[in-house]
Amino acid sequence: MSGTCVIGLQWGDEAKGKIVDLLTRDFDIVVRYQGGANAGHTVVVGGEVYKLHHIPSGVLSPGVMNVIGPGVVLNPPVALQEIDSLASRGVQLADNLRISDRLHLVFPWHIAEDKALNASPVGGESIGTTNRGIGPCYRDKYGRSHAIRLGDLYRPDFREKMERIVDFKQLLLAHLGSDELLVAGEIFDEYSGHAARMKPFVADTTNYLLDALESGKRLLFEGAQGSMLDIDHGTFPFVTSSNSSGVGVSAGSGVPARWIKKTIGVCKGYTTRVGGGPFPTELADEIGQRIRDLGHEYGTTTGRPRRCGWFDAVAVRYAARLSGVDSLAIMMLDVLSELSEVKLCVAYELDGQRIEHFPSHTDDLRRVKPVFEVLPGWQQEVRSAGRISDLPAGARRYLDRVAELIGRPVEIVSVGPGREQTIFV
Ligand code: GDP
Ligand code: IMO
Ligand code: MG
Repeated sequence: MSGTCVIGLQWGDEAKGKIVDLLTRDFDIVVRYQGGANAGHTVVVGGEVYKLHHIPSGVLSPGVMNVIGPGVVLNPPVALQEIDSLASRGVQLADNLRISDRLHLVFPWHIAEDKALNASPVGGESIGTTNRGIGPCYRDKYGRSHAIRLGDLYRPDFREKMERIVDFKQLLLAHLGSDELLVAGEIFDEYSGHAARMKPFVADTTNYLLDALESGKRLLFEGAQGSMLDIDHGTFPFVTSSNSSGVGVSAGSGVPARWIKKTIGVCKGYTTRVGGGPFPTELADEIGQRIRDLGHEYGTTTGRPRRCGWFDAVAVRYAARLSGVDSLAIMMLDVLSELSEVKLCVAYELDGQRIEHFPSHTDDLRRVKPVFEVLPGWQQEVRSAGRISDLPAGARRYLDRVAELIGRPVEIVSVGPGREQTIFV
């Protein structure tokens, strides 16, 4: 009957996986629709930690269909390994997974190209990608001539098409200084094996989702990355290569906006960012390190330490408007509970002028100075709070102020990684 979206409002890792897993019980289908193995979504169930890169976070709820839509760039060995790893832990994927035959595939040359380009900075700073071949794969998708979609693996001309692409990619990689050697026959054999294993899951998910909506099914869309990493509306060029804000849901899934009835924006009570790019509220000091330690802020996909800083209401307000957010899920409140004071960035100062909008050019964003509001910390354990009224007054004041600054109500507060450590307001 309708679609609900879960979208990150910062630079990724807002704990979207936890929220999707929690909400899944009210839905029939969970859909990943953009990004790829750059994503790392964590779900904690009964103390068991699951790290998902390709498979939707609905997978831990029995009876739910999981769909990987056409806007995702899929790395077959990563997806298959994830399926095997889930199976070894008793989570079976069979009739509960459908993968779009329209989605584009990541090949070894994409990863080699990503690594080679990551080594050469853009304007003095490396993007610091996840090296998962995301940018090169999306580039080939939009370029069309060198793209291979999942459905192509099952066509008689797959080998010929791939050999032609390998010839070109080998030249390109040599020019980029990569020593990657591509052997077409070996890659063909490997991907033919992947194709055989993936066959049971391959489907026309676009029509499947439209049929499902028309027959009254409830869809939950799981965003990857975050709104500030959106290719068109984020902090370009320090972004990912897909529309990772709310505007990407329709294009990536094939579900028109008329079906989307609600969007929940997920953000931490502070900010993190992995990789390069401007970060106005970054704390390159011991408080930043404290937040990193308390929040275990190390990348789910790459293990890199995440850069940490105060909550940036200018960025999140922009993201909430861009992504069409109805309500907020505020995560990691327990991490802030340890601090003696907590700061909120309520505006920026650019060239001596106070601004409240998020600048469109990275050069301007680099020059802004955050204007902070300081709130006293509450320094009280919140991990076992089950209701808003269980929270210390200081924490409630903080949440109220965040809601006021973003202009959206808080619907969910997370006080720990577990399913049960959640307050529904
Ligand atoms: P995602 O990519 O948006 O799904 O987020 P990640 O999984 O990359 O990172 C979120 C991390 O925070 C994971 O390790 C979660 O288990 C953890 N987490 C989620 N909610 C909370 C919370 O409220 N408090 C704490 N301390 N950790 C949380
Ligand atoms: P989830 O879904 C945090 C960042 C990378 C880099 C930039 C481009 O777990 O929130 P890419 O490999 O996409 O070309 O890298 O985007 N990035 C993420 N940061 N969480 C993610 O995913 C990310 N996916 C990409 O660190 O700065
Ligand atoms: Mg993540």
